[in-house]
Amino acid sequence: MTSIPDFTPLRAMAASVASQVEAAMREDLALALKGCDPLLGEVLEHALFSGGKRIRPLLTVLCSRCCGRDDSDLYLLAAAFEYLHVATLVHDDVIDHAPKRRGKTTVSAQFGLEAAILAGDWLHARSMYLIGKLAGAEGLEIFCEATGSMVNGEFEQLRYIADMNTGEEQYYNVIRQKTGNLIASTCAIGALFAGADAPRKEALATYGHRIGAAFQVVDDLLDFQGQSEQTGKTTGNDFVEGKLTLPILHTYARATDEDKKVLEQLFAGDRSSQEAYQQLYTLIERYQGFATAAQAAREFSLEATEALAPFASTQHSQEEIELLNLLAGYILSRNK
Ligand code: IPE
Ligand code: IPE
Ligand code: MG
Ligand code: MG
Ligand code: MG
Repeated sequence: MTSIPDFTPLRAMAASVASQVEAAMREDLALALKGCDPLLGEVLEHALFSGGKRIRPLLTVLCSRCCGRDDSDLYLLAAAFEYLHVATLVHDDVIDHAPKRRGKTTVSAQFGLEAAILAGDWLHARSMYLIGKLAGAEGLEIFCEATGSMVNGEFEQLRYIADMNTGEEQYYNVIRQKTGNLIASTCAIGALFAGADAPRKEALATYGHRIGAAFQVVDDLLDFQGQSEQTGKTTGNDFVEGKLTLPILHTYARATDEDKKVLEQLFAGDRSSQEAYQQLYTLIERYQGFATAAQAAREFSLEATEALAPFASTQHSQEEIELLNLLAGYILSRNK
């Protein structure tokens, strides 16, 4: 048994960065929303300030600081990544027909589809504007590539809905595109902002890709095993939506022909029924699908920490590198 590390320094840094990023968002919104319709402000308030772990801005800050830059513009750059993230969440909840986010009614359920589409667009545009301004053409290129790939990942995910022929490779491709690339871009642009050289930018982007994969595998586990009061989302929504996440793929690959048929019928049948969900959950447990998916997340997290090796000998970055290492571990044990 490996012991759980002490996350206290990470929590302290996360809280401090979150409050600076929130202050930067408030200041930026006051400026950018001048003269705008009050409903837009209300929707953005609901989407941006209802909790959220603020992991992406934390990554931007840590990656810039470990490459030697920390100033007030950094928190605005980090805020731009929270804007982007929240834009994807608002639209994601439309795509996933999700009723709850961050413990509250989703933007689409509370304000309607129109407001969700428009507020997501606004956040996306503002995020691009800030990243272009603060990280230049190279930053925008990384950003736009990551966003394009996120969209493609979502398209592929739709293609694989309830399709039992989906393989692990396809799942990994989807999560790399929809989650990993965006997280990697927060790291790479943080490093770019600090003027890091190519090897350090690449190392941090690789770190971001790996924690991104671990993060999504854990998110998919929490969709089954999480407590709604903690995750702030509705448990079991992925099955209702027909998502073939890693615990299911592992289960299907190991199941007897008879159990494979049961799985096929569950995905083809009424996925909103509580009995179907219970039956699926029991099957996954029987084939250790949760345990083996958790093991895959641990492997990604380990690869993330290995990607930080080039920073072992630099002097100014050790506190941030230690925090990035802790973050790779925290992602595995998180319950929200
Ligand atoms: C949720 O991200 C979307 C995924 C990529 C799984 P988070 O779990 O970071 O959501 P918040 O920002 O804390 O609400
Ligand atoms: C989120 O995946 C990916 C993006 C937002 C692009 P999920 O759909 O699993 O995220 P949650 O669980 O709704 O937060
Ligand atoms: Mg989704
Ligand atoms: Mg979703
Ligand atoms: Mg999810």
